[in-house]
This record gives sequence, C-alpha cells and structure tokens, in this order.
Amino acid sequence: MQLTADQSLMLNYPSIVVLTGAGISAESGIRTFRGSGGLWENHSIEDVATLEGYYRNPALVQAFYNDRRQRLSEVVCNAAHKALSDFEKSFDGEFLLVTQNVDDLHSRAGSQNLIHMHGELYKVSCQDTEQVFEWYDDLTTETLCPCCQMAGNLRPHIVWFGEMPLEMDRIYKALSQCDLFVSIGTSGNVYPAAGFFEEAKAAGAETVELNLEPGTNASRFDRSLSGPATELVPEFFNALLG
Ligand code: OAD
Repeated sequence: MQLTADQSLMLNYPSIVVLTGAGISAESGIRTFRGSGGLWENHSIEDVATLEGYYRNPALVQAFYNDRRQRLSEVVCNAAHKALSDFEKSFDGEFLLVTQNVDDLHSRAGSQNLIHMHGELYKVSCQDTEQVFEWYDDLTTETLCPCCQMAGNLRPHIVWFGEMPLEMDRIYKALSQCDLFVSIGTSGNVYPAAGFFEEAKAAGAETVELNLEPGTNASRFDRSLSGPATELVPEFFNALLG
C-alpha cells in the first residue's frame, strides 16, 4: 500500500511539541536577551525582571515594559512564525507550540494551539485578584486597575525570575506524549524551558534544535541545525510535510 506524505508523517510523528525563544523573532527586529546588543546588556535582570525589582522601582519596570510593548507595533511576523502556523494548519496530528517570547508574533502569524509560558506584553494582571486583562497602552503607577480600582495595582503579565511559568501542567503533559520535539531560537539558559528536550527524550521523542548557532545543550539533541530561523524553520517544516 502506498502511503500519502500526510499518512507517513502521522506514522512517524503523531504528536509534535515546538518550543520557541527570542531567536525566532530576531529577524522581525526584536532584540534577543543574551549576546552582544542583547536586551539584558543594558539592564540588570534583578531590576527589571524580578518581583523585588518591581517593588523597589515600579515606575522603572513599567517604563521598561511600556517601551517593549510600544515597539511591538513597529514589527511584523516573519517567515519562521508563518511556517509554524502553516504547518499547524496542514498537520492532522497533535501540535503544541510553546513560546518563551512575550511578543504576539506567533498569534499574528495565525498559530492556534499556543502557550505563552513567560506571559504576554499585551496583557497585565491585578496584583490582588490575579485577574488578567488585555492591555495595549502604557502602564503607570497612577493607572487604575479595572477590577479593584486601585492605582498602581496592575503589573505587566510577564513571568519574572523566581515566578512559576504559565500552563506548566499542559506543557509537561504534551511533552510526555510527544514523538518529535523541536527547539527554535533559544539559547537553552533558562529553566524549566531549557529542560523540555530532556522530558521529550524520556518520552521517546526525537529531539531537534534549530538555532543560529548551537545552543547550550546542542550536543544532547538528536539533531542540531544551524542557520537563521527564517530559512531553517520553513525548510524543516516543509520537509516534514513532504
Ligand atoms: P536568548 O537571547 O538567551 O537566546 C536567543 C537564541 O536565539 C540564541 O541561541 C541565538 O543564537 C538565537 N538566534 C539569534 N538570532 C537568530 C535567528 N535569526 N535565527 C535563529 N536563532 C537565532 O533568548 P531565549 O533563549 O529566548 O525569560 O531566552 C529565554 C528567556 O530568557 C526569555 O524568555 C526571557 C529571558 O530571561 C524571561 O524573561 C522570563
């Protein structure tokens, strides 16, 4: 019996989990975190990415995220974001996209089954009730919270260091059942995301890294391919579809 490309793909990889990091948005013009010109170069992580830093100087932290939120209107999704969304539409198996990015470029490209494990720039939350709101404007220490009407109670809906990333149960469940795990544009420095490939491996999945340069754990992936995401990602996922 002759299998169609779709059927043979389904036999090999009925369940796929993809993890993305800052590298997938780099060619859209969003700075990555580490390396020269990286976002963390001009800022101390303790000041702008921890709850303690926020309590010390909420105005500074809000200005940092206001600036990043504003910049989103100046960028567009690229061929790598689009390739993932196109793949998801054509693929009949289970597909979960987990991103560490707080930009909205995967959503704009049309990805559906998507988890923003480190939060989203276009959302804020109330520090008392933990209610989450879509938010496109600047936040200040004077901004009134829509639920409790308290000034300064809203914070960026961003997972800071020391806080628990979002939807971890759903992510670990998908990792424990996946047959292919693909890591794209992430340096592999920040846990728990940096350990996802191990979870997938333990479940018997094939593990692939697509990155500009090999990441911290490159040698422990089954395959590690180097190059810009806008080239590697469309090539890899088109080849999967045959
Ligand atoms: P990093 O800045 O640590 O790593 C970005 C990776 O993308 C590097 O390995 C680059 O080689 C690669 N890269 C750069 N340009 C690329 C391109 N055009 N195509 C493909 N790859 C490219 O960013 P992340 O690994 O995403 O967390 O960082 C993880 C987390 O650390 C972030 O989500 C953030 C940060 O602290 C929080 O803020 C909680």
